[in-house]
Amino acid sequence: MEYDEPKFFHVMQYASVADGDVIDMVSGNPDWEPPDALREALEAYARFPPEEFQYPPSEGLLELREAIAERRGVGVDRVVVTNGTGEANYLAMARAFERDAGSEALLMDPVYPYYPGKTDLLGGTPTLVPTHRGGGLDVEAIRAAASEETALIVLNTPNNPTGAVYDIEAIREVVAIAEAVDALVVVDEVYDAFDLSGRFESALTIDSPNVIVTSGFSKSMAITGFRVGYAILPPEHVASAKTRHMLVNVASARPSQHAVNTALRETDEAYYERARELLDERIDAFGSALDAAGAEYTRPDGAFYVLARFEGVPGTMANVKRLIDEAGVAGMPGDTFGTARKDWFRFALVTPRVEEAAGRLVDYFDG
Ligand SMILES: Cc1ncc(COP(=O)(O)O)c(C=O)c1O
Repeated sequence: MEYDEPKFFHVMQYASVADGDVIDMVSGNPDWEPPDALREALEAYARFPPEEFQYPPSEGLLELREAIAERRGVGVDRVVVTNGTGEANYLAMARAFERDAGSEALLMDPVYPYYPGKTDLLGGTPTLVPTHRGGGLDVEAIRAAASEETALIVLNTPNNPTGAVYDIEAIREVVAIAEAVDALVVVDEVYDAFDLSGRFESALTIDSPNVIVTSGFSKSMAITGFRVGYAILPPEHVASAKTRHMLVNVASARPSQHAVNTALRETDEAYYERARELLDERIDAFGSALDAAGAEYTRPDGAFYVLARFEGVPGTMANVKRLIDEAGVAGMPGDTFGTARKDWFRFALVTPRVEEAAGRLVDYFDG
C-alpha cells in the first residue's frame, strides 16, 4: 500500500510557503491552553524515578483506565487506552472486519477522511451513506444501505466536518439496524467536550453488544500531540483489541498517560466550559462574516468546524489555493470529506485569528 499524504498536510505545506501572511484554518489543533494540572504533572514527571520511564501496562495505566471508566460509567475491564482516538478507531474497525461478518463499512457522507482510509487499510469496502442537510443521521438511508455484507457502521458525534450532534434516538435505531445484520457500530466521540447544543448523549447509554465507543483527550485537553485516547468495548471484543494494540504499539506513552490522568482528576468543569464559550464566540464572529460575504453555511452544534459555500467559487483544491494566495486564509477542500459537500470549504475555528480571517473573507468576496 502506497503512503498517500493526507490532503491536510498538502494544504498546510502549500500555505506555509505561500507569499504573505496566511491564517491557518486547516487543522484541528486547539490553540488554547491545556489544563494547568496537565502542565504541572508533566513538570513533576521529569523528576520521577527510572521505573516511571519504562513500559506501562499495554492496555494503559490502571489509574487512567479507572478514571475513564468512572467518568463514562463502565467497568474498567472494558477500557483500552490507545495512541489517540485515531488508534482506538483503528482497533474498533479492525475488530469489525475480523469477525467474518462481511467486509463493508457504512460511513456517513460528509465523512472524516481517516475512516475510508482505515477501511481500505483493513481490506474493507467503504460505502458512503448520505446524511440530512444539516449533517444529521438519515436512518432510512442507513437501513436501505445495510445488508449481510455490512460489517461496520461508523458514526462521529459531535461531527467533523458538519458540526452535527446526533440525536440519541437516531443512534439507537442505527444500532438496531446493525444488530439485525450482525455489524458493529463504532461511535467516535472525540469532540464530546464540545457539544454546544446541550443535546449530546453518549452512545454508551445504549446497551448493546454491538457498540464500541471511542474518544480521547486531544481536543478536550488541547493536547493533540500527547496521543492519548481510548476505546470502550463490549467485553467479548476487549481481548482481541488489546492484542492488536500490543502487537502494533507495545503500549502508549507513559508520561502522556500520567499527565492526562492527573488532569482528568484535578480539572474542573469550568476549564471545558471556557473552551466551549471561546468556540461559541468564534462561531458567532465567523458566521456574521460569512453572512456578510453572502456565503451559505451551517452553524455547528458541536466540534470545531464550519462548512461554507461561496457563490461561483466551489471549494476545490484549486480554489483553496486561490484563497490562500489571494485572501490569506487557508481552509480545506470539500471533496476531502466525501461527495456530499464537495463544492464547499471547511474552516477550522481553532485559531485566535478567526475574526481577522472572517474580515479577509468578507473583503475578498465583496471586493
Ligand atoms: C472525527 C475525528 N476522530 C478522530 C480524530 C483523531 O483524534 P486523536 O488525536 O485523538 O487521535 C480526529 C482529529 O481531528 C477527528 O476529527
